[in-house]
Amino acid sequence: MTQRVALVTGAMGGLGTAICQALAKAGHKVVAAYHPQFDKKEEWLKEQEAAGFKNFIPVPGDVADLASVQAMAVEAEQKAGPIDILVNNAGITRDKMFKGMEREQWDAVINTNLSSLFNVTKQVSAKMADRGWGRIINISSVNGVKGQAGQTNYSAAKAGVIGFTKALAQELAAKGVTVNAIAPGYVATKMVTAIREDILKGIIDSVPVKRLAKPEEIGFAVVFLADELSGFTTGATLNINGGLHYQ
Ligand code: CAA
Ligand code: NAP
Repeated sequence: MTQRVALVTGAMGGLGTAICQALAKAGHKVVAAYHPQFDKKEEWLKEQEAAGFKNFIPVPGDVADLASVQAMAVEAEQKAGPIDILVNNAGITRDKMFKGMEREQWDAVINTNLSSLFNVTKQVSAKMADRGWGRIINISSVNGVKGQAGQTNYSAAKAGVIGFTKALAQELAAKGVTVNAIAPGYVATKMVTAIREDILKGIIDSVPVKRLAKPEEIGFAVVFLADELSGFTTGATLNINGGLHYQ
């Protein structure tokens, strides 16, 4: 296989960690992009080393801030080389029923989960097209596909991720760059374990597979979309949700 350089945002979170590990196992060089204020970077790197992943390249960048990710991309290229695979994974929730939602909660989620795709993808997509090869993989959500009460901000952002994916896929299709989305269902990470216990129990009961996804089950899909043989897959959304919702 060809070794590629992959940059994963939100790399030190639950899904991000599994995505970094899966890409490394597939033979890729991985830049682990993290929030500049994340204070457990060294701890995370040590845990990864202990798990056999010694070569992650940590680079800071706030995906909601264009200047910050410009610097992130420069540092990533200096340390790892041109970025071939981008995984837009960083994200947050600020759940609230719409009647009580503040503009601040709306803006935070739209900026971090959707405008981040403009900020980060801008740094790499034209260069991928010039080189004639690239993979852009955007992490959406089942709640962007079906909508979720308490998440007008998040559902709007994650639906926006899918629209962005389909449009950019068309622009880059003839340039050897694929753009795809993954819409995971509920995955066992801190984003989900933060949900009130009784509500979470109800959610799990409603999933036909009757459990949360393991982060590795999403990492596997990222490796699939990053593969050489996925060159004909573009503009797609992979729904990996335990049967919770079919389009
Ligand atoms: N549909 C319609 N109305 C609902 C509802 C639903 N599913 N759930 C609750 N309501 C109503 C209630 O009946 C109540 O109505 P009244 O005010 O008329 O009595 C009102 O909404 C408030 O309900 P709560 O008491 O539950 O409100 P709360 O403020 O305690 O909690 C919430 C609101 C934080 C949004 C909470 O309901 C919640 O956490 N829901 C889960 C949302 C969710 O699934 N988030 C996913 C997070 S993980 C993630 O996002 C990852 C991913 O991509 C999958
Ligand atoms: P997580 O464990 O909370 O990880 C999210 C990561 O994003 C964290 O590392 C976080 O850093 C980082 N991040 C947040 N804001 C950032 C910013 N402005 N700049 C840079 N990094 C930032 O949650 P997760 O479950 O792994 O979520 C990963 C992605 O999957 C998100 O886009 C989420 O919406 C999506 N998703 C999750 C689920 C699920 O059920 N878990 C389902 C569907 C989709 P800090 O910790 O420093 O804030």
